[in-house]
Amino acid sequence: MRIALITGASSGLGRTMAGEIVRTERNIDGFWLIARREDRLARTAESLPWPCHILPLDLTDPAAFPKLREELTQSGVEVGILINCAGFGRIGNYEKVSMEESNRMIDLNCKAAVDVTMTCLPFMKAGDRILQICSTAAFQPFQHLNVYAASKSFLYSYSRALRMELLPRGIVVTAVCPYWMKDTEFIAGAESGYGPGERPAIRNFALSVRSDKVASRALRDSRLGLAVSTPGLVCTIHRAFSKLLPKSVLLYIWELIRGV
Ligand SMILES: NC(=O)c1ccc[n+]([C@@H]2O[C@H](COP(=O)([O-])OP(=O)(O)OC[C@H]3O[C@@H](n4cnc5c(N)ncnc54)[C@H](OP(=O)(O)O)[C@@H]3O)[C@@H](O)[C@H]2O)c1
Repeated sequence: MRIALITGASSGLGRTMAGEIVRTERNIDGFWLIARREDRLARTAESLPWPCHILPLDLTDPAAFPKLREELTQSGVEVGILINCAGFGRIGNYEKVSMEESNRMIDLNCKAAVDVTMTCLPFMKAGDRILQICSTAAFQPFQHLNVYAASKSFLYSYSRALRMELLPRGIVVTAVCPYWMKDTEFIAGAESGYGPGERPAIRNFALSVRSDKVASRALRDSRLGLAVSTPGLVCTIHRAFSKLLPKSVLLYIWELIRGV
């Protein structure tokens, strides 16, 4: 059995990715769906026409990985597509976002993505694919998203290097770098440190993209074997500018944009 294993499948992009795989991918026989909320994973599974195995795991808990390895070994499945989508961000400066939340971001966005990837790789073969869901925030530092942007830069850099290491095995790794998506739970979570009367440090989510567009473009780019997917106009332009302009200039441009 060749499966698509998706982390963060209980909502947002991860859930949308599963539906898009049904529409566009061949030779996948079922899903393994990972997130913390079991009821929401069950809802994702109910929406899919293929067999689903639900794994309610907190990926910031190191005990999750021996459990996942054990299940993969017992089942004998091949991981045809791995999508590391679980992730979260917090808006605010160094005083607003606590050390605990910052550490949790690093644990989920960086460490868990590496650990899921390393756990799955022994169960992958030539022709299989990995999509690491980074962000356009990977392309430069962002004040008031400092740890989040750094965590996505880590994942981007890891993905690019891993891709080269996996070329001889015929496994494709794509770093997916979307702009804001408003139709997921991400932005509400990112703003959760602000009370009703408070003005968040980032208020401008104009030109945001829809998660179904991100999912279809990211999967297309992965099928094409691209190293980086920028699913949308803003993140594509941002990627180009981040190569052309010094980081200090990009930081000041962001300072102008973020509070508008
Ligand atoms: N939305 C945006 O503007 C945007 C832009 C660029 C990149 N991204 C990236 O896209 C990815 C998906 O985000 P989204 O927009 O779809 O947000 P979302 O709706 O909040 O989805 C996040 C997913 O991560 C899971 N998750 C969170 N903590 C977890 C943990 N400790 N263990 C296991 N799973 C956990 C959540 O499920 P549970 O709560 O059930 O665990 C949920 O399924 C993230 O990596 C995010 O950084 C988002």
